[in-house]
Amino acid sequence: MRVGVLGTGMVGNAISTKLVELGHEVTMGGRETGNERALHWAGTAGARGSQSSFRGAAEFGELIVNATAGSASIRALEAAGDEHLAGKVVIDVANPIARGSGSPPVLELSNTESLGEAIQARFPQALVVKALNTVNATVMCDPARLPEPTSVFVCGNDEEAKSTVCGLLADFGWDGDQITDLGSIEAARGTEMYLALWLRLIGVVGNPMFNVRLVRGE
Ligand SMILES: NC(=O)c1ccc[n+]([C@@H]2O[C@H](COP(=O)([O-])OP(=O)(O)OC[C@H]3O[C@@H](n4cnc5c(N)ncnc54)[C@H](OP(=O)(O)O)[C@@H]3O)[C@@H](O)[C@H]2O)c1
Repeated sequence: MRVGVLGTGMVGNAISTKLVELGHEVTMGGRETGNERALHWAGTAGARGSQSSFRGAAEFGELIVNATAGSASIRALEAAGDEHLAGKVVIDVANPIARGSGSPPVLELSNTESLGEAIQARFPQALVVKALNTVNATVMCDPARLPEPTSVFVCGNDEEAKSTVCGLLADFGWDGDQITDLGSIEAARGTEMYLALWLRLIGVVGNPMFNVRLVRGE
C-alpha cells in the first residue's frame, strides 16, 4: 500500500519505518519539502521511503497517517488538501495538546469535543480513525516490547475504515483481542483525555515503555 505519513517527529518516524519494514511505500510529509528530519528519514528508509510536503505525502498516500502536533493538525491537513483526503482512511494519532501550555500540558479540546471529531467534521469525506494515541511511539509500532499483552483503542464512523486500521495494527503486532473498538469518532474524547493519566504514569514508571490492559469481568 502507498501511505502518506504527515509528521516528521518521533511518531512519524516510528510509523513510517514500521510501514516500510512491512513492505509498504511511504512518503513522509512536513510543512516544507526537504524538511531536515524528513530528509534524514528518507535517506535511511531505502527505496520504499521518500519525503515531501504535507500535500505531496497526502497525494501519494492511499492511506494517510496524521502524526502532526495536535494544535496544528487541522492546518496540516488543510495543507494536505481536501481532495487528497477524500475517500481515504486517515489514521489520527495526534493528541490536541495546546501549544505552549507548559508542564503538564493541557488539551485544547476536551469533554464535549476532540481532535478526532474536529478532523472528521472539517474533512467529512475522509474516513477518520483515531488510534494509537494512547501509547508511546515505540510501543505503537512494537507492542511486543512490553512483557505482557496490552490494549489499544480504535474509534471512527466508518466500519470498513476501522477494519483496515485493525488489519494494519495486527501487522504492527497488536493481536485482535488487544484492540478494542470504542465505536464512533466521538470516543476520541476518551482516548485523548487519557493523556492526563498517561502523563502521571510516565512520572510513576520513569519511562514511556508502559501501557494499560482492559480486563473484562462477568
Ligand atoms: N511522541 C509520542 O510518543 C506520542 C505518542 C502518542 C501520540 N502522540 C501525538 O502524535 C503527534 C506527533 O507527535 P511527535 O512527538 O512525533 O511530533 P510533534 O513534535 O508533536 O509534531 C511534529 C509535526 O507537527 C508539525 N507541526 C508542528 N507545528 C506545526 C504548525 N504550526 N503547522 C503545521 N505543522 C506543524 C511538524 O511539521 P514540520 O515537519 O514541518 O516541522 C511535524 O511534522 C502529536 O499530536 C502527539 O501528541 C505522540
